[in-house]
Amino acid sequence: MGKTYKIAVVNGDGIGAEIVPAGVSVLDAVANKYGFKLDKQEFPFGAGYFKEHGKFMSDDALETLKEFDAIFFGAVGLPEVDDTLPARDYTFRVRTSFEQYVNYRPVKLFPGVESPLRYKTEKDIDFVVVRENNEGEFVQSGKIMHGDKPGGMAMDTSIFTRFGIERIAHYSFKLARKRNSKVTNVTKSNTLINSLAYWDRVIAEVAQEYPDVEYSKMYIDNASASFVLRPEIFDVILTTNLFGDILSDLGGAIMGSLGLGGSGNINPEKDFPSMFEPIHGSAPDIAGQNIANPIGQIWSAAIMLDHLGETEAAKEIMAGIGATTSKGNLTKDLRGTASTSEVAESVVQFINVTK
Ligand code: NAI
Ligand code: MG
Repeated sequence: MGKTYKIAVVNGDGIGAEIVPAGVSVLDAVANKYGFKLDKQEFPFGAGYFKEHGKFMSDDALETLKEFDAIFFGAVGLPEVDDTLPARDYTFRVRTSFEQYVNYRPVKLFPGVESPLRYKTEKDIDFVVVRENNEGEFVQSGKIMHGDKPGGMAMDTSIFTRFGIERIAHYSFKLARKRNSKVTNVTKSNTLINSLAYWDRVIAEVAQEYPDVEYSKMYIDNASASFVLRPEIFDVILTTNLFGDILSDLGGAIMGSLGLGGSGNINPEKDFPSMFEPIHGSAPDIAGQNIANPIGQIWSAAIMLDHLGETEAAKEIMAGIGATTSKGNLTKDLRGTASTSEVAESVVQFINVTK
């Protein structure tokens, strides 16, 4: 008998209630086939929970979640709830409390999906955005002062530490060794001459320990254009919290839809559980209609299993996604007519019928 993994399942809000169960159905199918067990427990956290309890998660949530091997998560946020709260009180709280300092966000073109980049093929669009996930621009250290007065002011301070930069840099270079041995640091040190110049300097030092990996840096403005014009130049992109957030949505767009992007908030040392979620938000505009694309969530399931060491099962999920998209089994965001559950069933079917 294989291992048992304790998985916390957090649907969150909006389409989370549709795509997370879709992802779970795929997880169950591979667990069954590969002989490991998933001991799942659901937690109702998010903006819906906030409406009832005045907080995004229970007071003992972090203590409880800490005992799990991984968290399988949808997204948080609802139009009727103050949108400055979900990241602060749920997403960033989990990411920082559990030292999930890597945000691993792969970008690739699936067979049968048309990229809006009409000259680019599957071989051109295949890279990973590694987003620093615990510090930088998103530390939420700042203040609004005299906001209602003519002299009102606001500030947010970015924080970059040597420790934080070194660990994300080491992760990126090691990842590049498993891929095509190329790291591009996406920065803006020509204008952020303190924080990002330091970021560049520390990364360049780490780069010297990986002479076999090609290292270069590129400014975020050029990188954005290059995502569209020449995505084939990228392998591992190492970037900051804010830039990585934006670039991963752009990555989703060049794959054909935001709904395709999967991700992992990873604590590589496994001192704490890691959290796996699609790159997009709760998409309240399409919630409750069974039309959301579940592939980003299903891909996140594969990333989770890979992290847990179930690499064969993870590969099978990716093959199932490829088989599904190449059959033209696509949701509305990709100009298809399949529902959320039909896409998930197609992946499950693939897993159940292939040897
Ligand atoms: P969003 O990513 O939820 O939606 C952007 C657009 O992409 C929408 O038109 C949506 O319909 C579409 N889309 C997203 N996922 C899709 C899918 N799986 N299939 C098909 N179409 C999809 O971003 P938005 O609208 O800026 O934010 C909505 C809410 O989500 C906000 O409350 C925001 O704060 C929250 N959010 C939460 C995140 C998280 O929990 N990690 C991340 C990003 C946003
Ligand atoms: Mg985002």
